[in-house]
Amino acid sequence: MPTRGIFHMTSTTSVTASAPAKAILFGEHAVVYGHPAVAVPLHELKAHVTVTRSPHTPSQQITIAPPKHPRTSMSSDSDATDILVDMVKATLHHFHMESSPDIHVTIDSAIPISSGLGSSSATLIAVVRALANYFGEVIKPAELIPLVNSIDSKVHGGASGLDATVIAYAQCLAFSMQKQPELLPVPKGFQFLIADSGMHSYTKTAVAQVRNSRMNDPQLYDDLFETIGSIANSARSAISLGRPDELGPLMDRNNELLRRIGVSNNQLNRLTKAARLNGALGAKISGAGLGGHTISLVDDAVRDRVREALLMAGATRVIDSRVQATL
Ligand code: PMV
Repeated sequence: MPTRGIFHMTSTTSVTASAPAKAILFGEHAVVYGHPAVAVPLHELKAHVTVTRSPHTPSQQITIAPPKHPRTSMSSDSDATDILVDMVKATLHHFHMESSPDIHVTIDSAIPISSGLGSSSATLIAVVRALANYFGEVIKPAELIPLVNSIDSKVHGGASGLDATVIAYAQCLAFSMQKQPELLPVPKGFQFLIADSGMHSYTKTAVAQVRNSRMNDPQLYDDLFETIGSIANSARSAISLGRPDELGPLMDRNNELLRRIGVSNNQLNRLTKAARLNGALGAKISGAGLGGHTISLVDDAVRDRVREALLMAGATRVIDSRVQATL
């Protein structure tokens, strides 16, 4: 493939691209050991990235703007800025650009960082998409996902790749490592509430903790992962057969198993319990755990009561989310 000089690419001076947050409905942690998981995009929360040509910077500079919203922007510390610069460089390499253009990258994200909603993957995907648009290139999910994972793994440490996959496809899907993702039909939509525990959750830390615990008792952990995987498979059938009401008890069982593998804590337990006591059809941790968010399956009759109960139980924010029917 020939390399390309930057001045032949485009006359565009500024482009913006975006990517949604995500929530894991079933299968977190077990997915790292080869079991299936089910996840959905959260279109309510997005990361936006703008790439601007900056003729006033010295030649061959990539600059990253200070964050507009530090609580939600990856560029709030220097490690994160390095990761963004690495993503820009990996993308230029992917498109066979021979040298760095003078560009300015601005991130404006509504996705809270370090809380299980896929902030880093969404930001990196939006970076790649914005650069692709800027250079007049098209990048499909099958190319986008490994490119983003090559950088995102530095944030996540031994990640399964689930985050980047669900965010790139922006559809409800079943995911297993080493397999093609299965985009799920959703004959009947459903809704849930996402509650912020107010505690940061670091995927790398939680994944390492589970890995260490498994080393002490591999049989126990492999059995727990196996059961989580079979729950995720049941959930995938319930969703694609239009029976979302069956998801509630599956969420409760999955949550109990997450508690047993050691990624819950008092605050997360308080939130899931408050949701159930106030009529949620099911509730669980979503993402790596040890903090971050919980999800509660609700219907119109109980939604407001469950939202109130989550706030009373200490949630710092509750987001309404819907998975729309696709048929
Ligand atoms: O990024 P989080 O917090 O949603 O966690 C990702 C889910 C894990 O299964 C814990 C890790 C992974 O890479 O799949």
